[in-house]
Formats: sequence, structure tokens, C-alpha cells
Amino acid sequence: MRPRINRWTPARRNLIFGNSIKSSLVQPHFVVSGENIDTQISGMPGINRQSVDILIETIEKDMQIGLTSHMLFLVMDEKYRDRNASYASNMETPLHVAVKQLKEKFGNEIVVMTDVCLCTGTDHGHCGIVIENEINNDLTLDELLRIGVSHAEAGADYVATSDMMDGRVRAMRKKFEELGFHSTGILSYSVKYASSFYGPFREAAESSPKFGDRRSHQMDFRSGYSEAIMEAKIDQEEGADIIMIKPGLPYLDVLRKISDEVTRPTAVYNVSGEYAMVMNSNNKKGERGKMIIEILQAFRRAGADVIVTYHAREFMQEE
Ligand code: PBG
Repeated sequence: MRPRINRWTPARRNLIFGNSIKSSLVQPHFVVSGENIDTQISGMPGINRQSVDILIETIEKDMQIGLTSHMLFLVMDEKYRDRNASYASNMETPLHVAVKQLKEKFGNEIVVMTDVCLCTGTDHGHCGIVIENEINNDLTLDELLRIGVSHAEAGADYVATSDMMDGRVRAMRKKFEELGFHSTGILSYSVKYASSFYGPFREAAESSPKFGDRRSHQMDFRSGYSEAIMEAKIDQEEGADIIMIKPGLPYLDVLRKISDEVTRPTAVYNVSGEYAMVMNSNNKKGERGKMIIEILQAFRRAGADVIVTYHAREFMQEE
């Protein structure tokens, strides 16, 4: 356990302890290879897939309006995908290049988070190593560590473990300590439900499973608070620096419960399907702004210290 991780830089302290909607926002981004690429994602108006050059320009502008926390997802070219997502830890992926450039440019003024999962890098789209049609938990851990370490090496502030394998936080923390990454944090998707609200994201990242689903590892939404509390406490005990609940709006009650039960800061992920609902229901910018503030305020009221949301930029621009 390293409580200093969340205090390490001014930008981390502001994100976690800043105590306002603005300071708690994290903007997600989808990074692709190539140059000058800025393609609109269908189903997620305002959110684009971007090559590194455009992504850096976008984040430069975000930084100017005070949006200083960013979460990066790699969209991997089809040709690099294989059974164990081997390319996902290559230091030359657009994600690694982007992290390096962002940290060189903005240092301790930016918080860079990176998604660690196998699903965008495997040819079958599953979050783990598949053996005879089942996801093998412990073999997957080795692959996750390989990816997490490469992100830490690139300079990520937090790796965000989104895979829902058992034991991955402990294994990651241990590995980071062995390798000297004492200030690299772990934001864990601790309470992540198998949800129908991830649709637009999976299209954006081309990460839908080619067969089966994610219900053998992501949580059953019929489960009660005890299951959610157990997952959150396990991750806390294993050394997670931030405990995330996902999705957001349908699970506000769970967020409230978990924030009361854990001592680590909590985050909520206002996911792609929730974003699409708002964007499709109201396309007048000013009026939509009112919906967004109401939603973000609800997350704060329910106890979220950190809010990952595709609305972050629009909120910062409007306020
Ligand atoms: C990767 C991951 C997913 C999301 C974040 N990380 C997809 C999934 O679990 O299928 C979803 C985010 C969103 O819907 O906005 N495992």
C-alpha cells in the first residue's frame, strides 16, 4: 500500500482531493495509428478516434481549459491482434508514444491514465487468455502485468485495470515494486458489471468478443451490495489507489454504498451507452449542459471523488 501515490503530483492531488466537479473530471480518448487521423465514432458524437499528432493537439487545448486528467484507450490495428495481445506491450504502439509525449510536455501538470486489458489486442476480443473456450485467470495475469509494466515505463500516472481477473491488483502492485515503479498508481475497475451500456465503446475500440460474452468475469447486475463490497475491499486490500464503479447512472446506489465502505478514493465511469443516451436525447448545447451538470452532481453526491466521462470537455467549455 502506498498512500503517497495519490499525493505525488499537483495534478493528481487536484484530481482526487480537489473537491469540485471540475477538478474530478477525466476525459477518455481513443488512440489509433497513422497520422492526421480524426474520425468521428458513430454513436458517440463529439468523440473521435485520433492518431497521436491530433490527440496531442486535442489534449493541449484541453489543458488550456483546465481539463488535466486523461484516460487513453488503444485501438489496435487488426493485423497486430493475436491470442495473447502480444503487441499491446510494444513501446511503439500509438498509446505508448502518446503517453511518452504527454508526460514530456506536461510533466506533473497532467494525469495520464491508461486502460490495461487484453480485449483490444486479442483476435477473439476477449479480456483474457482463452483455453478451450474459457478465460484462464492466472495465465491472463502474466499478460496484464506485461502490458501494465510497459505503460508504467512509458510514464503513465495510473494504469487502469479493466479486465476483472481475480488477483490482478496485488500482482500488478508487486511487479511495480519489484521494478521500482513506486509512484505508478493503480486505478482499478473494482466493481464492473457485465452491462449493455458498453455498446458504443466496443464499436469504437473494436473490442466486442467474437464469441460468448463477458459474464464469467464482469459482475452480474442481479448481485447485491455484498458482492460489490467484497470486490471493492479485495482491490483496496490488494493495493488499488482508486476504486472504480462502472457503469455510473444505473449504479448510483452501489457508488454510494462503496464510497461509504472503502477508505480509498472512489471513481465512477459514466460509460459510452450513458453518454449516447444524453447526446441522442438533446442536441441543443445549452440545454444539454443542464442535463450534464445534473448528472455529474449526482455522481458527486453519491460519493465519487473522480468522474470518468465523455462529457468532460463540454462541461469545462460551458462552465
Ligand atoms: C475494456 C473496457 C471497456 C470499457 C472500458 N474498458 C469495455 C468492456 O468491458 O467491454 C467500457 C467503457 C465505455 O463503455 O465507455 N475492458
